[in-house]
Amino acid sequence: MADTHPDPLQRPLPDGIVPAEVVARTEKRWLGVMVALLIVMMAVVVLTGMTHAISPPSNVETIDPTTLHLGGEFAESNLGTAQERDGSLTIRLVAGQFGFTPDCTKVAADTPVKFRLTSTDVIHGFLLPSTNVNTMVMPGFVAEVRTRFARPGIYRMPCNEFCGAGHHGMWARVSVVPKEQFQSLAPTERSSCVQQ
Ligand code: CUA
Repeated sequence: MADTHPDPLQRPLPDGIVPAEVVARTEKRWLGVMVALLIVMMAVVVLTGMTHAISPPSNVETIDPTTLHLGGEFAESNLGTAQERDGSLTIRLVAGQFGFTPDCTKVAADTPVKFRLTSTDVIHGFLLPSTNVNTMVMPGFVAEVRTRFARPGIYRMPCNEFCGAGHHGMWARVSVVPKEQFQSLAPTERSSCVQQ
């Protein structure tokens, strides 16, 4: 007899409902909800990555962290803001315990901007609040993030990866100036916020 089943969930209730069947149906529905949620979350990640140009933590572009200062892209004379032939800007920064070099750069508003960063020692973070810029800066790798600043202003860039005792004091700035003002700056003034 079904109503003497040893498992109480298999015993039909007076109205003929078998609890085990209800449980199985409900679990199947929730499984469907979970799979749908997973698909929605994956789609959000992929779509925001494509439309807001959010980059993974780092490019797979390697560099020798022990010879950065000796020459090449991250030699001191190449750091800061450089203007490309197409008018876009490339900013090269080196992160190290406990600061960024240079600690302030100027960029033009409403212009494509590309940050290229690397680290001399440990993993640091590079974050510009209220922009899509947020990346890890790892020794041995070059991190690259692209963005565009709509309005002039000062953007603080804190290191957002715990990197040691001085981590809390490791931050720098990006000063976004109007396009016309940027064009009148000398190259040395673009890689520093010191008033000249
Ligand atoms: Cu560098 Cu935290």
